[in-house]
Amino acid sequence: MNKLILGDCLEVLKKIETETIDLVYIDPPFFSNRNYEIVWGDKGEIRSFKDRWSGGVDQYISWLKERVQEMYRLLKPTGSIFLHCDWHASHYIKAYVLDKLFGYDNFRGEIAWQRHNAHNDAKKKLAVLKDSIFYYTKNGTFSYNPIYIGLSDEYKNNFYRYEDEKGIFRLSDLTAPNINKNDKEWRGFHPQKSNRHWAIPTSAIFDIVGEAQAKELTTIEKLDLLFENDLIQVSKTGIPSFKRYLDNSKGALLGDIWTDIKNVQSQAKEKIGYPTQKPEALLERIIKMASNEGDTVLDCFMGGGTTIAVADKLKRNWIGIDQSEQAYKVTKLRLQKNNAIFEMIQEEIIQTL
Ligand SMILES: C[S@@+](CC[C@H](N)C(=O)[O-])C[C@H]1O[C@@H](n2cnc3c(N)ncnc32)[C@H](O)[C@@H]1O
Repeated sequence: MNKLILGDCLEVLKKIETETIDLVYIDPPFFSNRNYEIVWGDKGEIRSFKDRWSGGVDQYISWLKERVQEMYRLLKPTGSIFLHCDWHASHYIKAYVLDKLFGYDNFRGEIAWQRHNAHNDAKKKLAVLKDSIFYYTKNGTFSYNPIYIGLSDEYKNNFYRYEDEKGIFRLSDLTAPNINKNDKEWRGFHPQKSNRHWAIPTSAIFDIVGEAQAKELTTIEKLDLLFENDLIQVSKTGIPSFKRYLDNSKGALLGDIWTDIKNVQSQAKEKIGYPTQKPEALLERIIKMASNEGDTVLDCFMGGGTTIAVADKLKRNWIGIDQSEQAYKVTKLRLQKNNAIFEMIQEEIIQTL
């Protein structure tokens, strides 16, 4: 059963059973030395949380590490964590918390999420336009669904420069660096002459004859097959290239710079009036990328409940925790609007989860 819990993150995490969580996303205080406040609604209700640390960055890091250590314990062996932070402490968090607990080799990326456009008020330093979201897995085997995004107009104009009766296409290599001694010449072209070997797109062959039959074909037979299907163009100098049609393109594989998701705007429908609320599109992307339907998602700094509201819509199970009564209340209303089914629990009464 999905759980909305009011309580301190550490105390609640200690009561959750080991290796029961598939995905953790957290957006904890960033060591910003600020208090965040929003006055919300006609009655002027103050929704707030504090991010001040009298003991400096050392105190902040040891506070965070203690909690992330519990999250590590809770993750299944195939699980992942996304830790959202910014320049105030991101380098300390990578070196002293995540590399130490998850291991340097289990670092899967640092997402630079561009949340702001240019600021004109940064006089003596560069304007800060991004947050960092660290992505680590518990092990080398983990749930990962690659995400493809639309190709930019610039990319399309630069690469998709050809057109025939089947549509717009670009040309890609049918060879790759280094010689394969078993390669043979095809239609007067031998890749060995340019220190290369044949590299044929297997998915194109599967599309034509299916996976089982594709395995029976030699390289030359595959090239013939592509040629017969009008998927190879030979240049005047005799170099064959593969024709990749724009209509068949999945888009570009998502990398670590995310510029296409806007911060929650003041008039946005999803705005619920919680300070530093993150956009649903950001969480949707993370949850889809690193979990599957029926998996369990945990956010123990849930704030206005963005992670769990999105997890619920995407048919994941979830646990949301926050120590703030306002966060608990705001999230409850948000989930009720979505007709989510969940139980509400207070830390004091939890024995084990
Ligand atoms: C940056 S906000 C999270 C915003 C959230 N991602 C959203 O989209 O609305 C951080 C939250 O962490 C909570 N928090 C801070 N310290 C906590 C602790 N020790 N245990 C549980 N929650 C805590 C604060 O109450 C605040 O709601």
